[in-house]
Amino acid sequence: MTEELSRILEEAREEIAKVSTSRELNDVRVKYLGKAGTVTSLMKRLKDLPPEERPNWGRMVNELKDEIERILEEKKAEIARLEKEELNRKLWADPTMPGTRRSLGHLHILTKVQEELEDIFISMGFSIVEGPEIEEPWYNFDALNTPEWHPARDLHDSFYINEKYLLRTHTSPVQIRTMLSRKPPLAIISPGRVYRRDYDATHLPMFTQMEGLYVDHDVTVRHLKYFLEEFARRLLGENTKVRLRPSYFPFTEPSFEVDIYFNNRWFEVLGAGMVHPNVFKNVGYDPERWRGLAFGLGIERIAMVKYGIKDIRDLIRNDVRFLENW
Ligand code: DAH
Repeated sequence: MTEELSRILEEAREEIAKVSTSRELNDVRVKYLGKAGTVTSLMKRLKDLPPEERPNWGRMVNELKDEIERILEEKKAEIARLEKEELNRKLWADPTMPGTRRSLGHLHILTKVQEELEDIFISMGFSIVEGPEIEEPWYNFDALNTPEWHPARDLHDSFYINEKYLLRTHTSPVQIRTMLSRKPPLAIISPGRVYRRDYDATHLPMFTQMEGLYVDHDVTVRHLKYFLEEFARRLLGENTKVRLRPSYFPFTEPSFEVDIYFNNRWFEVLGAGMVHPNVFKNVGYDPERWRGLAFGLGIERIAMVKYGIKDIRDLIRNDVRFLENW
């Protein structure tokens, strides 16, 4: 090989050595071996040489071409190997690593508290009944001995759908529906949504109550206190205290506000009392033969007491950061 050809070979070798992608490699190939490349132009010199020198020149240029091709092939294989390694590195996964976990949802805290309450009362012999949320005024008020003049009947306090129907303002109408459809003795609870025109940190326009009713021959306030204490202790712990304060509800006599002592504080969580004789008359039960105890508790209130929730509105905001806490 002439000095010139050796130099070209060295140049090609160096250029190829610097290349690191298939694309750059192709550029070098075109530069040396392409139609307008170095090797082609060297071949074109043949026609200007004296005939006896031509075979030698042709052989040397071909050697150069073969050598460049060989180096290009080598480099091509190297690049392919590197690219494959790179791809493997990117796709590499450690099968011993734990997978990405999907976080599981869970019941809303209100549902949990409601279910806990249901379990407690079911274990004491109560059964669960349900009543309609769209209710007739007679069940919601009249049958519960709540006369026309009572403030709860004010149009501004309740959501009336029309003259005949309103959204129930409490779960107490389920007492009426149950007594009309069953014979005593009976012991029921009835959880469900109720509606009032209230909205602030301690009141929602829609909230959840749980009604309780136990009718039998010799039911007394002592039974009422027993059930309430039992429920409070099972829900909140052995040391929970219960206090009955005299109060007024049209459908009970006597009536009580019930407070629960928990975490060094008294909380007002429910209303209760002994079923009023007029209520028994309205459902056709003989008030001389039957006695009843009744109570109605706010499930949101109970949840707030148990879990130390300050703002009742947090319970319906559906903010996962809040709900996740339980
Ligand atoms: N219904 C009443 C309310 O929503 C709560 C209540 C009080 C229910 C006394 C009762 C009861 O069954 O005996 O404020």
